[in-house]
Amino acid sequence: MRIGRLTLENPTIMAPLAGITDLPWRLMARAGGCALVCSEMISANGLCHASRKTLKMLDSRAAEKPLSVQLFGSDAAIVADAARMVEDAGADLVDINFGCAVKKILKTGSGAALMREPGRAAALLTAVRRAVRLPLTIKMRSGWDAGGAQALEIARIAEDCGVDAVCVHPRSASQGFRGRADWSVIRRVKDALAVPVIGNGDIVRPADALRMLRDTGCDAVMIGRAAVGNPWIFSQVLACLKGAPVEAVDLKRRIAGMRAYVEACIAYYGERHACRMLRSRLGWFVKGLPHAARFRESIKHLDSGQEALQRIFGYGKQLRRIEAQN
Ligand SMILES: Cc1cc2nc3c(=O)[nH]c(=O)nc-3n(C[C@H](O)[C@H](O)[C@H](O)COP(=O)(O)O)c2cc1C
Repeated sequence: MRIGRLTLENPTIMAPLAGITDLPWRLMARAGGCALVCSEMISANGLCHASRKTLKMLDSRAAEKPLSVQLFGSDAAIVADAARMVEDAGADLVDINFGCAVKKILKTGSGAALMREPGRAAALLTAVRRAVRLPLTIKMRSGWDAGGAQALEIARIAEDCGVDAVCVHPRSASQGFRGRADWSVIRRVKDALAVPVIGNGDIVRPADALRMLRDTGCDAVMIGRAAVGNPWIFSQVLACLKGAPVEAVDLKRRIAGMRAYVEACIAYYGERHACRMLRSRLGWFVKGLPHAARFRESIKHLDSGQEALQRIFGYGKQLRRIEAQN
């Protein structure tokens, strides 16, 4: 699949998730097999005001490439300036957020608020298109209200403005994350556009990805929540696409992944900060497994990398014992 000048090695993408898809997580997702990772959404205003915390969100490493950096904002000139900064920082793609439905973001006219202002959306995308040579994408919802008509309108505008691909998460802004994603909206957008369309929403199991590709005709799938703590879902989707058997994630792989994540977090954030984050983040990897609650409890006060590795080792031993008994 191609997005502008960028060729993806397979049709799976890790979704942008605020508070989750930082550099350490993106390295995990790439190792899990996806072809493209996305930053958390980054404030265009924050970048232009050179906020240190926001600038740090542009950090990247060769091992995670290609990287898509997602911006949110509502002022065309500011978002265009921020896109230039993203290009200068070495990102491979710039994405504009048309989907965030959090009140604080909507109030500023950013995110899904852009979907009900086609004129402003067009001005913003035109300014960004002029500002950068990077492949440009947008990620949107089905619209402000259910139905999908706004998705079609905005998708056509985006294509006319020179956007290279459109990602659709077919829930309305008022829906938040409730109810089910209406994949028929992805199909309608795909039928209407010449540029590639990325489908997103409610892929829970590898077979769902196959179903989305088949039922909507989309060019690639983007996976969010189901990949958190389970980056191996991407290689399972790829096996599924080849018609090969989908192998369950064995214990050895899971434990090695958790250790790698601890190491990546410490390398990036330093031990103190990383441990504070890992107190909740390591819990992602044990969702639904035996004694998960006990493991989560055991890491609540984590304060060294050594301790994190010991807890993971201990938990692995416990699981091996259970496996041996069954
Ligand atoms: C915790 C969380 C954070 C999110 N952050 C972003 C974000 O920064 N940018 C964005 O475009 N979408 C964001 N989303 C939406 C996801 O990218 C995705 O569209 C949504 O979760 C549906 O896909 P899924 O069913 O595979 O999770 C977020 C979703 C969640 C649950």
